[in-house]
Amino acid sequence: MSRIRIADLFRKKKDGEKITALTAYDASFSKLFAECSVDVLLVGDSLGMVLQGGDSTLGVTTEDVAYHTRAVRAGAKDAFVIADMPFMSYPDPATAAHNAAELMRAGANMVKMEGGAWLIDTVQHLTRQGIPVCAHLGLLPQSVNVIGGYRVQGRDPEQAQQLLDESLALQQAGAQLLIVECIPTSLGQRFSETLNIPVIGIGAGVETDGQILVMHDMFGMNADYLPKFTRNFLAGQDSLADAVDAYVTAVRNGSFPGSEHSFS
Ligand code: KIV
Repeated sequence: MSRIRIADLFRKKKDGEKITALTAYDASFSKLFAECSVDVLLVGDSLGMVLQGGDSTLGVTTEDVAYHTRAVRAGAKDAFVIADMPFMSYPDPATAAHNAAELMRAGANMVKMEGGAWLIDTVQHLTRQGIPVCAHLGLLPQSVNVIGGYRVQGRDPEQAQQLLDESLALQQAGAQLLIVECIPTSLGQRFSETLNIPVIGIGAGVETDGQILVMHDMFGMNADYLPKFTRNFLAGQDSLADAVDAYVTAVRNGSFPGSEHSFS
């Protein structure tokens, strides 16, 4: 297994090869995902829901993410690992740098922050100091109380244009990757076509440069409530490894997500 770097993700975008990503929170799963050639592992603040049992991501701390980042790195030495900056860990550039440094020391290759234009100074501040940044636009789970629920974003043309403008500003500020969540397929396609940096979608249709899922959703756990944009890849498989292989294959050949997993 060779080490994955940001340049590999840019090359995939350029060559039209889909990028595969999953969340990971511990060494056993990061090892499995790396063995199955998943390109990007995200230590998501979704851990507040899938590991800690919370009803949102707001209870997660930088220490929590650092703990899980160390575990993920221990299982997958060569993986490209992104660590999520949790709720209120980046209210200003200096605080963001302090907390991001803790996540980089724990083994992350990049940190992720939710938000648009208000993060420009922070993205510049971090990248200048050697901390690569992944931006996150569309549905922002840390802002669930402002948005008023987990809803599809960017359906209205003005909001869609604003999101695109903000993504360009974040790219200009130094962001090297973008995750877009719960937006119409057509907007996902516009992000990928407009930006030079790779765009990875979740609930953003098949046209983005890559796909990410929360690992528990990909394994079909919590079958009572599977979000529309996910699929149970363990169904019909004999092992966890087979399920991950099926996910990687479906993303790479463009059969996932289908229109039934996407928003119009
Ligand atoms: O925290 C997380 O798992 C995420 C993904 C949903 C992209 O941010």
